[in-house]
Amino acid sequence: MSEETAYVPLLGGAAQCLREGGLVAFPTETVYGLGADALNKDAAGKIYAAKGRPSDNPLIVHIAEVAAMDRLACVNDMARLLAESFWPGPLTLVLPKREIVPDNTTGGLKTVALRMPAHPAALALIRQSGVYVAAPSANISGRPSPTTAAHVIEDMMGKAGYIIDGGPVGIGIESTIVDVTGEIPAILRPGYITKEMLEAVIGKVMYDPAVEKPMEGVPPKAPGMKYTHYAPKGELTLVELSTDNQQQRVVHKLRELAEEKRRQGFRTGIMAPKETLSCYEGAADILVCVGERKNQATVAAGLYAALRKFDDADVDYIYAESFRGEGVSYAIMNRLLKAAGHRVIKV
Ligand code: TXA
Ligand code: MG
Repeated sequence: MSEETAYVPLLGGAAQCLREGGLVAFPTETVYGLGADALNKDAAGKIYAAKGRPSDNPLIVHIAEVAAMDRLACVNDMARLLAESFWPGPLTLVLPKREIVPDNTTGGLKTVALRMPAHPAALALIRQSGVYVAAPSANISGRPSPTTAAHVIEDMMGKAGYIIDGGPVGIGIESTIVDVTGEIPAILRPGYITKEMLEAVIGKVMYDPAVEKPMEGVPPKAPGMKYTHYAPKGELTLVELSTDNQQQRVVHKLRELAEEKRRQGFRTGIMAPKETLSCYEGAADILVCVGERKNQATVAAGLYAALRKFDDADVDYIYAESFRGEGVSYAIMNRLLKAAGHRVIKV
């Protein structure tokens, strides 16, 4: 029995709930999603209410077969090649939408975002329900995306008909979003699938300018990117090296900043990887470990849970080491810089 078929007997109620226009939270390999029938405009509308999400922020439509792409979007060769190479997996493709996709799902845009998730429970749910599943991350708007069912329960209890617990997710940050409507595909949101991985399949890929730096007065192509995302309740500041390689200086600065705020009577937190965590002993009210620096996939997997811990502890100021680098680090820093409102201190 495959992992996916193992879920089938468990999902009857949730699948029916989706068919009847209800909301179901489910695990994917990236983060947990809050799903509804993508072609039922009232159902998709319920998602915005449950999340407190602005209605101009479109939803990603989750499918379980590559063939479903053509039903929902006008598919070009590049998109087909990417889908065949990376699906099921953490890649979302933006394509011109077909008539059947309601405006509620696409936030009024003429394009639709499609993804085939790699989690067996997600695939089983989509297939069993027989609907295409519109799903944003299953957090209240502005909170870190949920990476465990417990996070979903915190944010969505009483709002979703079903919450499916598939354990902690594997990847921990949202899918890479690629707009394939133009001549050169553009990354709208970095993720686990990197620019280099995409280029190995389809040649030149660019970052949408808004990924690096939000531009004054120019709305980003992924409307979601304009909102303050992933913000913990406390004020987060990142500390990083400007030139040399003496991590010790980062430790020193982080300790100094946290201790100063604590002297002023604030509650403080420090976030660091396993390698240096013990160096911060005694410098803040709480220390939170965020994976291992030498294995950045573990940092991605632990990032949102770490940020939620600071919220739970009602911390006023959070100081964190940064994670500049190649590959998945680029996506980690994209989320961390947003969470920090781009507050970075270089030492
Ligand atoms: O990994 C993921 O993608 C997760 C899981 C649940 O699949 N979903 C997720 O959804 O992160 P959400 O709603 O939190 O983020 C969707 C992003 C938003 O920034 C939105 O603006 C963008 O995708 N988006 C959706 N449709 C779009 C479109 N047609 N054109 C441009 N951006 C779009
Ligand atoms: Mg989200």
